[in-house]
Amino acid sequence: MQQPIRLAPSILSADFAKLGEEVRAMAAAGADYIHVDVMDGHFVPNLTIGPAVVRALRPHTDKPLDVHLMISPVDPFVREFAEAGADILTVHPEAGPHVHRTIQLIKSLGKKAGVSINPGTPVEAVDPVLDMVDLVLVMSVNPGFGGQSFLDGAIEKLKRLRARIDATGRTIDLQVDGGINDTTAPLARAAGADVLVAGTAGFVGGPARYADNLRRLRGG
Ligand code: DX5
Ligand code: ZN
Repeated sequence: MQQPIRLAPSILSADFAKLGEEVRAMAAAGADYIHVDVMDGHFVPNLTIGPAVVRALRPHTDKPLDVHLMISPVDPFVREFAEAGADILTVHPEAGPHVHRTIQLIKSLGKKAGVSINPGTPVEAVDPVLDMVDLVLVMSVNPGFGGQSFLDGAIEKLKRLRARIDATGRTIDLQVDGGINDTTAPLARAAGADVLVAGTAGFVGGPARYADNLRRLRGG
């Protein structure tokens, strides 16, 4: 069953020179999760942040740190991100041969586990691990950069995953990431998404705008 809407602003679009303040401002503005995009310049064509940044941000908020790992290999870094204070660790099956093992590892560390699929990956890729995960993330852009346009194919995937998740009878967040704005947020929501990630649309205009940005994304 679709859950109440939650928003996960991606700090990829924050001011990196003041990340702690940015996270506090976004939490005060009503963010539900703080989305942290981890990129390795190998699985995706961009480099961002590592566990040290997650550790540094942890004291700045009680909100769940929703860490999106776009790295390959991923297993050698899972424990470090978990110990740094991540609450949710989301991984890509395209990043390696053993997504089931990776999710076992995340769960063994007491963290929530997510599985994410790229625009070129069929929804069936999540089936073997659907009984283990707490979150399924549909990428609505090719991962690597903020500010890209929403790919319409994500809508059909969300609908199909909504049905698959509902059939499990388990509570699993259906999350969508990439190109979410005032126009695409309602479409993603109508297709069954529970959690909307927003980088550009969350952080545009600076801290004075955050509450209003989130309100519009919520459809309020
Ligand atoms: C893309 C990242 C996204 C990104 C979204 O690889 O996973 O989380 O920050 O940025 P926007 O909302 O600007 O598309
Ligand atoms: Zn992301």
